[in-house]
Amino acid sequence: MSKSTTRFVCQECGAVTAKWAGKCEACGAWNSITEEAARESTPKGLGAKPGRKIEFVGLDGNAAPVPRLLTGIGELDRVAGGGLVPGSALLVGGDPGIGKSTLLTQATALLASQVPVVYISGEEAVDQVRLRARRMGLEKANVALASATSLRDIVSTLDTADAPKVVVIDSIQTMFADTVESAPGTVTQVRTCAHELIRLAKRRGFVLFLVGHVTKEGTIAGPRVLEHMVDTVLYFEGERGHQFRILRAVKNRFGATDEIGVFEMTDRGLAEVANPSALFLAERRGNVSGSCVFAGIEGTRPMLVEIQALVAPSTLSSPRRAVVGWDSSRLAMVLAVLDARCGLALSGNDVYLNVAGGLRITEPAADLAVAAALVSSASDVPVPADMVVFGEIGLSGEVRAVAQSDLRLKEAAKLGFAQGLVPATPRKGKNSGAAGPLGIKPIGHLQDVLGLFRPASRE
Ligand code: TYD
Ligand code: MG
Repeated sequence: MSKSTTRFVCQECGAVTAKWAGKCEACGAWNSITEEAARESTPKGLGAKPGRKIEFVGLDGNAAPVPRLLTGIGELDRVAGGGLVPGSALLVGGDPGIGKSTLLTQATALLASQVPVVYISGEEAVDQVRLRARRMGLEKANVALASATSLRDIVSTLDTADAPKVVVIDSIQTMFADTVESAPGTVTQVRTCAHELIRLAKRRGFVLFLVGHVTKEGTIAGPRVLEHMVDTVLYFEGERGHQFRILRAVKNRFGATDEIGVFEMTDRGLAEVANPSALFLAERRGNVSGSCVFAGIEGTRPMLVEIQALVAPSTLSSPRRAVVGWDSSRLAMVLAVLDARCGLALSGNDVYLNVAGGLRITEPAADLAVAAALVSSASDVPVPADMVVFGEIGLSGEVRAVAQSDLRLKEAAKLGFAQGLVPATPRKGKNSGAAGPLGIKPIGHLQDVLGLFRPASRE
């Protein structure tokens, strides 16, 4: 007798439960569980039938590595780890409207001059895609375009000896396998379609781009499971109202993660930003208290960004802490250290912290810059306009060395900064000491920062 024919699947993490619930026990997401038709029967085990013996080989093969395919969009190539690896699958995630289709239209148009390229859109009609290409002046590119959603049709079309070298599926949430009874976009559908397409890509050796939408919580809808299946996961992010777009590698089997590419959305598509620091600092107004320039590292690149803090008296019993672009628990830590180790209590104040330009910073090296911005705002003494700051803060208030300080200082010097507020003890290793043309203010303890921004009237 068959058991129940439906099951309940969390659309965030793919966990399966027998009953519906408001909250997924596996990942903690709310309202993410939906009913799907049960697909697999109960596992039967292997039985007595023997399998084939697997041949083992050594690590050192002599097959020549396949050359990587360069799109010609430098920022994209770098984030992908130095070009696209044939036979690999890349997931490009991002909010609707952020520019995923735009980026892939541009990339495929450039690739089409080197290799055969296929663009399959499940979301837009052929005319809409054409319209976009025309707007960007790419309508002459030799891209094979189709509007399709049936997995069976797509696989039969592509599974040939003369398969294209690059395939874009826009988006994986619109694809539909007729063997699965749930609706497109559900975990089972997305997983089945992705699995088949990735297998095909490996077999035929083409580069597969899967476009995936991101939910409000910031994960690729449905398939956190999808992230395990693909070789590379790229997120396209940016603040609405800003024209910058950041392409971030969060997983890459063929290159470094944490690498970012910076683009600017223009009326003719995405333009690469060769000098992101200049862009992020473009709207900075010097000599305002609470503003501080952080010299950060994103992937392999140094990047200068402005950190803005506003400390204002609060009328609330639990004052407001609002953070954009940084970790709010990290802010709580810096505030606690300022209070407990330096005697600067901000518990009666609202604190707002903002990383200007829509970048999201995850490095602990930003601690000192955040602290400097907070102290500067609280004392209403501006951080010198030509000063960059970096350093990690420990719980006892000590300022710790961070990696690649030379690279950070070099970038600052290039952009015309003259002073650096940096950890007093340089990290041991090959890149210590050399400050270049910058004047260095070494900071050993957070207390010293308070000394630098003391209001003149109280002295
Ligand atoms: P799109 O690539 O369709 O987003 P996604 O595929 O991630 O959903 O981008 C849509 C947005 O980009 C839309 O708001 C219009 C804007 N855009 C431009 O500003 N300039 C352009 O040249 C193009 C093609 C789009
Ligand atoms: Mg799109």
